[in-house]
Amino acid sequence: MISMKSVSHRKGIVLAGGSGTRLYPGTLAVSKQLMPIYDKPMIYYPISVLMLSRIREILIISTPQDTPLFKRLLGDGSDFGVQFSYAVQSRPEGLAQAFLIGSDFLDGSEVALILGDNLFYGHDFVRIVESAAEKRQGATIFGYQVSNPNAYGVVEFSEEGRVLSIEEKPDHPKSSYAVPGLYFYDGKVTTYARKIRPSARGELEITDLNKIYLERGELRLELLGRGTAWLDTGTHKSLLDAAQFVHVIEERQGLKMACLEGIGFENGWISTETLERRIHFLGNTGYASYLKRYLG
Ligand code: TTP
Repeated sequence: MISMKSVSHRKGIVLAGGSGTRLYPGTLAVSKQLMPIYDKPMIYYPISVLMLSRIREILIISTPQDTPLFKRLLGDGSDFGVQFSYAVQSRPEGLAQAFLIGSDFLDGSEVALILGDNLFYGHDFVRIVESAAEKRQGATIFGYQVSNPNAYGVVEFSEEGRVLSIEEKPDHPKSSYAVPGLYFYDGKVTTYARKIRPSARGELEITDLNKIYLERGELRLELLGRGTAWLDTGTHKSLLDAAQFVHVIEERQGLKMACLEGIGFENGWISTETLERRIHFLGNTGYASYLKRYLG
């Protein structure tokens, strides 16, 4: 019997709305985050990050048309040993809107926000997020070196790792470090999010929220080194890159990434009976065969 791993006091939000215009016509009828990355739906990957951070209470936010599909895919979370709630974002009015939509769900607790199309994998990554999840005050963002920083929020920092500036999609980036779509905030996040006004592109920018934490001296930066892979999957090429990445790693190691039932079982959050029921439900699939390994 696997012992129950500790549960974080923190809640999680997966933001899985947006328009997915760069994936048209593929996303005209179905949400980007429901598309498979190799052998499982995209949203499994960000959910796995929250579960690995020991977060069990998770809000999924999506569009009016896609939210019912996420419910159908994920249910109440009992297959994975977590609790899913759902909320709708009527229009893609920015990442920071997640904290206004989720204010009742959060009810003043700390939160990790992850974007539904972000995939993380790597050495030390779990330890880094676990440690960010344990912090009770302030915010933690991450920095990751990329070849195209101007497509992201860009963070400039001192030699000691203190954040000097953070800019959204700058024409002239002050560093080559992008801010990935994973953010940890304390219980003040909703209050701060209410202060933000829409940007020129009409969005409540997460960068503006991070600037509030920065101005208050409450913004921490953790660099993710080259041993960590961070992929986002907004274009056809990046979608294919991510699928190939998952395929290569899984084939080589014989281990699945983002296997939510497996993580739930290893965390001691689902019973053997629940796992057996799930295996039966998934039928004659490679995914179900893989889950049988957990039964020993
Ligand atoms: P983006 O990649 O910026 O936007 P998008 O997914 O709508 O795609 P496109 O640019 O091709 O039109 O969004 C990043 C992630 O955040 C993605 O998972 C969608 C999500 N998102 C929301 O859920 N709500 C929002 O208001 C915004 C801006 C993004």
